[in-house]
Amino acid sequence: MADKDSVPEAEQYHVDIPMEAEPYTLRGSNSLDWGFKNRLSNIFRPESGRTVMLAIDHGYFLGPTAGLERVDLTIVPLLPYADTLMCTRGILRSTIPPTFAKGIVLRSSGGPSILKELSNEEIAVDIEDAIRLNVAAMAVQVFIGGEQETKSVHNMTRLVDIGNRYGIPVLGVTAVGKEMVRDAKYMRLATRICAELGAAYVKTYYVAEGFDTVTASCPVPIVIAGGKKMPEQDALAMAYNALQQGAAGVDMGRNIFQSEAPAAMIQAVRKVVHENKTPEEAYDVYRTLKKTRN
Ligand code: R5P
Repeated sequence: MADKDSVPEAEQYHVDIPMEAEPYTLRGSNSLDWGFKNRLSNIFRPESGRTVMLAIDHGYFLGPTAGLERVDLTIVPLLPYADTLMCTRGILRSTIPPTFAKGIVLRSSGGPSILKELSNEEIAVDIEDAIRLNVAAMAVQVFIGGEQETKSVHNMTRLVDIGNRYGIPVLGVTAVGKEMVRDAKYMRLATRICAELGAAYVKTYYVAEGFDTVTASCPVPIVIAGGKKMPEQDALAMAYNALQQGAAGVDMGRNIFQSEAPAAMIQAVRKVVHENKTPEEAYDVYRTLKKTRN
């Protein structure tokens, strides 16, 4: 208990200095509560408003994906370079050191494996467990135009409702079915629906034509998935182009962990995302680090 005797008189009121409210500048997030903003700040770096999310949740429907066979050996060494890790609770509890103090984006939908209809997902995590794991956001797949479109949208809106109760943002992940055309028109539709229905931010794929219209018409931040493995320089160029056209970062998996030099690649991606390096400059960084095995 505070000492009752000799209490100094409070007098440092600084009446000549108006109290300033620091603006919260992440797109579309100004009206959110403190806990939401605090969690989002553990995903998007406040200085740049951008993020390098390392996505390693592929096993939730693919099983032991190439590059993720041994998360302890291949992914844990990359953690110092990620702003955020997107993973399942199984991998989180079994393999990720709890000393990892940056944001965790928890894969929170699932059900079907690669052998079945992928859009037939359910919510796969209880909010209590997400809170217990101290996650920064919950990620849910949304299959616009897919066989189970309504069900997947409902999964997202349920998670938004539950997340809103506890200040946990939801990441809407647009899943593009094989039968869908991957163009700006589709991406505008899918990302806007996620944002309209309450996602705090949205993950989608980059499209070469008109990606700026996708980011312009989505009122919350967009991050891009990396997609299938491509040459490192192309993946860096894709990230660069997406950022120039309004993306707030990447949620990249295979193009990092399936790279010949994953640690060099994620550091090169950081150069693009946080330092606005060109793909050529970032590729130089990649080649240099690859040689020195850093
Ligand atoms: C799908 O399996 C997951 O949502 C991935 O996190 C997402 O596709 C990003 O990973 P990648 O960069 O490998 O496409």
